[in-house]
Amino acid sequence: MNRAVIIGTGSCLPERVLTNADLEQIVDTSDEWITTRTGISTRRIAERDERTSALATKAAREALSMANVSPKELDLIFLGTITSDMAMPSCACLVQKELGAVNAAAMDLNAACSGFVYGLDIAEKYIKSDPSMKILVIGAETLSTRTNWKDRNTCVLFGDGAGASVLTGSNNGSGILSSRLYSDGSLWQLLSMESAPRQVCPVLNDNPADADKQHDGSYIKMVGKDVFRYAVRSMEQAVLSQLEKEGVSINDVNLMIPHQANIRILRSLVEKLNIPIEKVFITVSKYGNTSAASIPICIDEANRSGRLTEGDLVLLCVFGGGFTWGVTLIRW
Ligand code: UT7
Repeated sequence: MNRAVIIGTGSCLPERVLTNADLEQIVDTSDEWITTRTGISTRRIAERDERTSALATKAAREALSMANVSPKELDLIFLGTITSDMAMPSCACLVQKELGAVNAAAMDLNAACSGFVYGLDIAEKYIKSDPSMKILVIGAETLSTRTNWKDRNTCVLFGDGAGASVLTGSNNGSGILSSRLYSDGSLWQLLSMESAPRQVCPVLNDNPADADKQHDGSYIKMVGKDVFRYAVRSMEQAVLSQLEKEGVSINDVNLMIPHQANIRILRSLVEKLNIPIEKVFITVSKYGNTSAASIPICIDEANRSGRLTEGDLVLLCVFGGGFTWGVTLIRW
C-alpha cells in the first residue's frame, strides 16, 4: 500500500539565546518560577531582520538536501504559521521564491501550534491520490515579534524557530499510518492573537480614529490554566482514540513527539497515557513553545540524533489556539 513517507527533515533555530536570567531583567519573574512552572530554561529569539520566511527557508533547504530532492521537483508547499512575514503574500510563497520551487503551489495554514500536523495530514491525502508527488511541509514562527514583553504570564513561554519535512509516496511499509485533526472554535478566547489594526470605511464611522480604541496590541493572550486543562484532556482523548482505531497499544509506540508547550503538560499527558517518559522526545527546556515549529523541530532533532530507527512507531500529538489539535501515527 502506498503511504506518505518523510524522506528528509530540517530545522533552523536563531542563534540568539534568551535565558531566564535575561527575562528577570525584563519582567518581575525568576528562573525558579519559570523552570518549575514550565520546564523552560532558554529559548531562541530571531534578530530584527530575521523573518519567519528566512527561518523556514533554512529549515526547508536542510530537509530538501537530506531528501535529495531539488526545489524544482516540489509540487506543494504547506507552511504552518501564525507569524507570517506579511498578511499577503503568504509566507509559503516567500519560501517558494527563496528556494526557486517554481513548480510548487504554496500556501500558509493557520492552525496555530497545530499548523505542521494539519499540513502533514493534507500532504498525506495528496500523496495517497498521487504517490509521485513531492511535498514540503513546514512549521515556522517568530513569536517573539507578537509577544507582550510586559506580560510575565506569557513572555516567558515562547520562542522562535522552524522545522520542515519533505514527503513523497512509498510502498515499503513505512509512512503515515493515520491521522486525525480536531477543532473547537467556541473556545477561541482562551488563546488568541489579534491581527493588525482594522481600517474603518468612513461611511461606517464619523470618527475613524475611534475605530481601534479597543485594539490593545497584536499580542498573544492566554488563559493559561484553562488552556492547560483542555490541552491535556484533548490530546489524551485524541491519542487513545487513534491508537484504538489503528489497533495498536501505547506500548507499541517507540517514540512520542508531543507539542512542546510546558513540561507539566507533557508530564500529565505521559501519566495519563501511561507511557515511559524515556519514550517521549522533549525540547521544551531549550526552545520553549515554538508553536507550529515545535513538532517539526523535534522530528528533525530525533531523526538526526538517531532516536528514530526504521520500523519505529512514532506518535505525534499537538494542541493549540483555535482550539485546534491532532494526532499522527507514523511507521518510520
Ligand atoms: O501552545 C499551546 C498552548 N499553551 C499552553 O499549553 C500553555 C498552557 N498553560 C500553562 O502552561 C500554564 O498555565 C502557565 C505556565 C502559563 C502558567 O502556570 P500556572 O501554574 O497555571 O500559573 P498561574 O497562571 O496560575 O499563575 C500563578 C501565579 C500568579 O500569581 P498569583 O495570582 O498566584 O499571585 C501569577 O501572577 O504565578 C504568577 N505568575 C508569575 N510569577 C513569576 C505568572 N507568570 C509568572 C512569571 N513569573 N513569569
